[in-house]
Amino acid sequence: MTRSDSGPELVGENLLTDNPALYEHAFPDTGERNARFVRDLVERFAEPSGRRALLDVGCGTGRDAARLAASGYAVTAVDISERMIAYARAHRPGVRFEVGDARTVRTPVAVDVVTCLGSTLLHLHDDSDIVAALTSFARCLRPGGLLILEMRSGAFLLTERGRRELLAAESVRRVEWESRTYTARTALRLDLPEQLLRRQRAWTWDGCAAPIEERTAWRLLFPRELRYLLRLGGFETLALFDAPGPLTEPPWPGAGKLATDLVGDRLHVVARRVRS
Ligand SMILES: C[S@@+](CC[C@H](N)C(=O)[O-])C[C@H]1O[C@@H](n2cnc3c(N)ncnc32)[C@H](O)[C@@H]1O
Repeated sequence: MTRSDSGPELVGENLLTDNPALYEHAFPDTGERNARFVRDLVERFAEPSGRRALLDVGCGTGRDAARLAASGYAVTAVDISERMIAYARAHRPGVRFEVGDARTVRTPVAVDVVTCLGSTLLHLHDDSDIVAALTSFARCLRPGGLLILEMRSGAFLLTERGRRELLAAESVRRVEWESRTYTARTALRLDLPEQLLRRQRAWTWDGCAAPIEERTAWRLLFPRELRYLLRLGGFETLALFDAPGPLTEPPWPGAGKLATDLVGDRLHVVARRVRS
């Protein structure tokens, strides 16, 4: 961790991504949820093959990558943040971690599965960047290989509940970490022309000289355009559903079938690389 006496540092645009130990503390491990989600979907949608190779894009601190490696996958994991990758290398043996950008990622050999979880794709705002990322994922996959995406759902903001929960009021969250209380005040707003959900967040803690202000944004992707962008990237969509998923309530493996009415706050995609 990079904590100095005066507290964590903001290097890029996100305090938590810049300080992986604080990130892990603020986002407690979902345990097996993400890994089980991936394994179950592969079981359900992939053609049978031997030992599987998997690429995790936007791996963060590498928790999911390490679990998937422990369950028998040969895992390569990339993240654009050098700090995340340094932390992952130090804490998660058994995975090949690389600094890399979703838009240009390559693997030395074709993999069977690409995962991109936790809204990583939505950090790319332009259509051209999203298609570049999807095209790169397709190049990393063997023909017929699977892409699994997990992210915030743009369609949720078309529901009354979505607007109420996301846009109504500033939220305040406190994180206790290493004898300090970190307070995050967060406001979300819609940027309609850019089709973005913009987040403004101020972090304070006892002894900080001034609040740390963050401005980040997620692309709002709607189902039809996502299917279209996937096609442009070289994928056929096999499943697009809002629940159950690793972050839904009830969580994966929820009972029953995959829900496709898309009223929930998460979006999950299984897509297959088109054979060419
Ligand atoms: C919310 S975290 C998700 C981490 C992890 N996949 C999870 O589900 O917990 C998003 C991650 O995406 C990474 N990221 C953002 N833009 C990226 C890009 N263009 N290429 C690769 N990683 C990116 C960030 O550094 C961050 O670690």
